[in-house]
Amino acid sequence: MSFVESIARKRDGLTLDREEIAEFVRGAAEGTLPPEQLAAMLMAITCRGMTPRETADLTQEMLLSGDRWELASLRPEAVDKHSTGGVGDTVSLILAPLLAAAGVPVAMMAGRGLGHSQGTVDKLEAIPEFECGTERDWLLAALDWCGAAISRQSERIAPADRTLYALRDVTATVPSLPLIVGSIMSKKLALGAGTLVLDVKCGAGAFRKTLEDAVELAVALRGVARDAGVACAALITAMEEPLGPMLGTACEVREALAVLEGGGDHRLLEVTLALSEEAMVLRGHDRAAARRTLEARLADGSARERWDLMVRAHGGDPDPSLLARPEAVHEVTAETAGWVRAVDGEALGWIAVEIGAGRRRRGEPLAHGAGVEVLARIGDRVERGDPLGRLLVGTRPADVDALAARMRTAFALGDEPVAAPPLLLGPPEAARGDA
Ligand code: URA
Ligand code: CA
Repeated sequence: MSFVESIARKRDGLTLDREEIAEFVRGAAEGTLPPEQLAAMLMAITCRGMTPRETADLTQEMLLSGDRWELASLRPEAVDKHSTGGVGDTVSLILAPLLAAAGVPVAMMAGRGLGHSQGTVDKLEAIPEFECGTERDWLLAALDWCGAAISRQSERIAPADRTLYALRDVTATVPSLPLIVGSIMSKKLALGAGTLVLDVKCGAGAFRKTLEDAVELAVALRGVARDAGVACAALITAMEEPLGPMLGTACEVREALAVLEGGGDHRLLEVTLALSEEAMVLRGHDRAAARRTLEARLADGSARERWDLMVRAHGGDPDPSLLARPEAVHEVTAETAGWVRAVDGEALGWIAVEIGAGRRRRGEPLAHGAGVEVLARIGDRVERGDPLGRLLVGTRPADVDALAARMRTAFALGDEPVAAPPLLLGPPEAARGDA
């Protein structure tokens, strides 16, 4: 059968077999199919969907296109954590040392910024000399040394995803459920941790805008994980506004340190504790005891101490005074009074990219002192002249007035009081680990 026939079959809503899916994925990884055929198949999948079987086959084939680290067979106790993408999401930086201090080793394969989201690797590289390794032996050594290892996804991991993601980005096929599942889970299974906790974002700033859609994604991700023998829980958390107050690199590291020191943003703490608790339950701990242990490791300073150890294991200097600071801070204030109805995380994320926390073109250096601070939250009452947020200006030249104007429009004010939205929307019992 030619690949044109496979495209036609998916276009007509038929089910692809494993060999057709394998040809598609090989075509992406090895360049044996032209981009127009790959793009047509992506669109057919987006319009027609895939069965759970097809989605599992797609994930497996994408996984097989690259290296596999098979962590579960080497360090069966290690846990991986992943979020489906948000802004102000500093959770990984807090969760890794916290769980490690609670006796649960954490291994992650993180990425750089993608679109308007700041990436964990970029944030950690705000720490002088910090490096996320790209080799399995490095990861194992760091894990054994401090119980928290964060590697960087190399080009040898799920290479099909690189090609397909770039094509999805320019063909309006990013939101497809099976394509998101294949993309995320092929990379998770490449690291191959035996336990995985997922933070599925839901809301205006996420791929999935409604609870129903987020539950569908959570269930699909967890289904693929379970098929692969991975113990997995998926929480659904709100992304109606940025999670934490900081969008950037050094400023997010500082925020993580604040939470590890017992202060910081309560939303970050809440989501970190919820995910860490799920991880411990999957590792066999009693739920209530797990929560008490996590809170104790924060209160007694051991999670904070573990951070320093983790930074040193990655070659970094943990002295927080070495983190880049903004060269200037520009406050953005409300022009009218009202209740905050919406805070556009995506728009703020793009402003953070522009000002220096992300790359506007491949290889552009970051300004680690730069970022965005969110001060007004959904449900808050603001008066004219009250601060909505701050622009943290770094070493990258920026048109501060234009960015301030854009930032102001990211905050929608209304005349009626608004309730602060809930943060933890899940789990639906089907997506939770102990269901
Ligand atoms: N994150 C990914 O890596 N891939 C997707 O498709 C969506 C989120
Ligand atoms: Ca560095």
